[in-house]
Amino acid sequence: MADNSSSTTTLFSPYKLSNFNLSHRVVLAPMTRCRALNGIPNDALAEYYSQRSSSGGLLITEGTSISPSASGFPHVPGIYSEEQVEAWRNVVDAVHAKGGIIFCQLWHVGRASHSVYQPGGATPVSSTAKPLSKRWTILKPDGSFGPYSNPRALTTSEIPEIVEHYRQSAINAVRAGFDGIEVHGAHGYLIDQFLKDGINDRTDKYGGSLENRCRFLIQVVRAVVSAIGPERVGVRISPAIDHLDATDSDPLGLGLAVIERLNSLQKELGRKLAYLHVTQPRYTAYGKTEHGSKRDQEGVHLTRKLRIAYDGTFMCSGGFNRKLGMEAVARGDADLISFGRLFISNPDLPLRFKLNAPLNKYNRKTFYTQDPVIGYTDYPFLGKGSETELNARL
Ligand SMILES: Cc1cc2nc3c(=O)[nH]c(=O)nc-3n(C[C@H](O)[C@H](O)[C@H](O)COP(=O)(O)O)c2cc1C
Repeated sequence: MADNSSSTTTLFSPYKLSNFNLSHRVVLAPMTRCRALNGIPNDALAEYYSQRSSSGGLLITEGTSISPSASGFPHVPGIYSEEQVEAWRNVVDAVHAKGGIIFCQLWHVGRASHSVYQPGGATPVSSTAKPLSKRWTILKPDGSFGPYSNPRALTTSEIPEIVEHYRQSAINAVRAGFDGIEVHGAHGYLIDQFLKDGINDRTDKYGGSLENRCRFLIQVVRAVVSAIGPERVGVRISPAIDHLDATDSDPLGLGLAVIERLNSLQKELGRKLAYLHVTQPRYTAYGKTEHGSKRDQEGVHLTRKLRIAYDGTFMCSGGFNRKLGMEAVARGDADLISFGRLFISNPDLPLRFKLNAPLNKYNRKTFYTQDPVIGYTDYPFLGKGSETELNARL
């Protein structure tokens, strides 16, 4: 566990994350924004991430496709082609110019896709051939919503190739200048489709026992760690989140099983991963919060157990505001807090939190639209002089 949590810890206490010196603990959560037209990061992304950068602040990019088959949203950036690697360099440079630190989230959506997003109109792949329930609909490239395509289960022999895509993408990310990568093992996407017993119905070595269901994630983590070193690798999981039908009969047992394996990997290496990032159940489908509900409290208890079990930097996400974030780090429930929706509408969120300034409201309607400015880079900053005010208070 990190050694610098105490009752005096705040969101503005510095934090040593692997080789990086964070000046505060307000992290940009990974968020799909659908502005990378045709999968290529462009100037709009450079502007968006630069706006959210602060000296010593950590940003995590939107989910980024590890292969042409990995996407299930319009205009998601990739990190598998040379053109994409080159294009990401401009984004990363813009963040570094402001002293920020940026990790790239590596993503494969698995069955949460549609043949329209697949090369040659292919069938999306998963741990299972079971389709998503009708409750979920997918955003199509034309802006309409419709049913997800039926997936096919990956054969055992196809899995190493996908692990290799993660490994190569991690190498590409470092080549593009990223400080590290985050393995997206959360929210009902491919890795979570292997982890959860409500989805995974395999009878090979990737299904059934916890050992088998964790196998794919651990193989991916080992592959990226071998390529770029553990200090540059974060892992995200959401054992208690049922987004996209990702249910498990024992979320705590599953979370602890993943952690046990990450801890042993760290022991074996004699080095730590950058962090473990856990989504609190407070974050439900498409971002409805339930502050103070019974489920909320259960979520906090579950996350606390995971935090105690994990031997390293622990990041939490899901329904946090300034007050809840301050409380969580002061109690030692998390080392770092990632903020999603509030960071969409407040590009200078760390500064606003520091000043306890009012926040802009976010507009859900423009979360996934393609305009390079509207709802993306046009949220206002605090007025001029705030920076001076901040320095005066330090
Ligand atoms: C528009 C939007 C897109 C998101 N995309 C991703 C994503 O690509 N990868 C991911 O791990 N989580 C994604 N999330 C979840 C966020 O990282 C975050 O955990 C969630 O919004 C809860 O935090 P909040 O309550 O501070 O918004 C997304 C959330 C939103 C609102």
